[in-house]
Amino acid sequence: MAISTQPTEGRWSSRWLFVLAAAGSAVGLGNIWKFPYIAGENGGGAFVLIYLVCVAFVGAPIMISEVLLGRKGRASPINVMRSLARQAGASARWSFVGWMGVLAGILILSYYAVIAGWALNYVWLTASGTFNAASAQVATSTFDQLQQDPVQMVAWHSLFILITIWIVARGVSRGLETAIRWFMPLLFVLLLVLLGYSASSGGFAQGWAFMFDFNWDVVGPETWLIAMGQAFFTLSLGMGTMMAYGAYVPDDSNIGSTVLTIVALDTFVAVAAGLAIFPLVFVNGLEVGQGPGLMFVTLPLAFGQLPMGAVFGTVFFVLVSFAAITSAISLTEPAIAFVVEEYNAQRSRVAISLGVFCWLLGLGTVFSFNIWADAKPLFGLNFFELVDQLSQNIMLPLGGLLIALFAVWVLPQNIVREQLEVRSDGVMLLWRIVGGIVAPLGVAAVFVYTLLPLFTG
Ligand code: PFF
Repeated sequence: MAISTQPTEGRWSSRWLFVLAAAGSAVGLGNIWKFPYIAGENGGGAFVLIYLVCVAFVGAPIMISEVLLGRKGRASPINVMRSLARQAGASARWSFVGWMGVLAGILILSYYAVIAGWALNYVWLTASGTFNAASAQVATSTFDQLQQDPVQMVAWHSLFILITIWIVARGVSRGLETAIRWFMPLLFVLLLVLLGYSASSGGFAQGWAFMFDFNWDVVGPETWLIAMGQAFFTLSLGMGTMMAYGAYVPDDSNIGSTVLTIVALDTFVAVAAGLAIFPLVFVNGLEVGQGPGLMFVTLPLAFGQLPMGAVFGTVFFVLVSFAAITSAISLTEPAIAFVVEEYNAQRSRVAISLGVFCWLLGLGTVFSFNIWADAKPLFGLNFFELVDQLSQNIMLPLGGLLIALFAVWVLPQNIVREQLEVRSDGVMLLWRIVGGIVAPLGVAAVFVYTLLPLFTG
């Protein structure tokens, strides 16, 4: 089959819709589940500040690179990289970045759907009053029981994949835009409601201090690296998602200001999620640094102790589920866009096949929490940990590194000037320094750091 570099026909109906879609991709479990617990484990304010630096100096330039490549190439990431590399007189092997992104999307979706399935389950659990005045023991054992029960986990995992694929199959304008138009505004409203709730809970000052009081003593080199990895995952960078979405951006949208809006929205949600969660944790005298259970054990427990906790707890898990769905949709886009344009395939069929594949792969993650918990085939990691490490800590940083290097050092810079509407030489110099040197070096540091322990034990 000949390589199709036909420009894609789809367009976001406005710049604002692209902002919502990209923010929908960025805002997800990474912001609401992961960010607060990582911040909790890494000293709060110290981590938050470093995270913000990483978002600004590594995340933003890489996102700009992805969107500009996508809009210039107007195709799926694999074909964008191939055609732009040719245009720049470089090797078509740059399309490797696109292939790796497709694979990373499949791997991430397979386990993302399992964790998001827990959130769906928690909508039901909180709404039905499971945590009303519950003891810490009840909250812990509810979470443990879910993890120990493969049948339940498979059921929620399946439901999440079904919802995602149903939306994706309906196509960019009908499915994606409709979902995003509803989900994103609702998500912000729900978050504001929760912030108000936690602000009136009595622990707000303590929560605020934990998030923003900077304490150098707890900062080590590792804090930087964890923050960098988190900035990367949360902004959906390194696997071509933003490139795929960038392919639908109208010509008259300003990429720089659009990306800054997306980055700001994503950061706002992460910080707001922290500010919504920590006061509730403090007011109940609970532990901030307890890890992944922060959202599934501590939080339901905290809600259960508060007036109207079941209502607000349910609202919270609905919010998490919405956020996860819009991110999951975006994880499929690089693969689906490629198969559709390359083989002229029907979008719904491709979506269903991809869904079945990710669902099957996700079973490995489900079983990693129960029947395969002790199976550690490689590097002492179970199936879930392997897929997670490989995609999040290796493929995304490598993809991001290559994308930034390509956009700054391979792509003719007149294309960058034209795409970013830059006239000043000073701004171009800044772009080269931040995008071509600072960001790649930052990512390379994370990459090496996360790879080394795998080989040195
Ligand atoms: N940014 C999403 C989150 O924070 O949950 C996760 C994600 C979505 C990562 C899409 C990568 C991606 F392409």
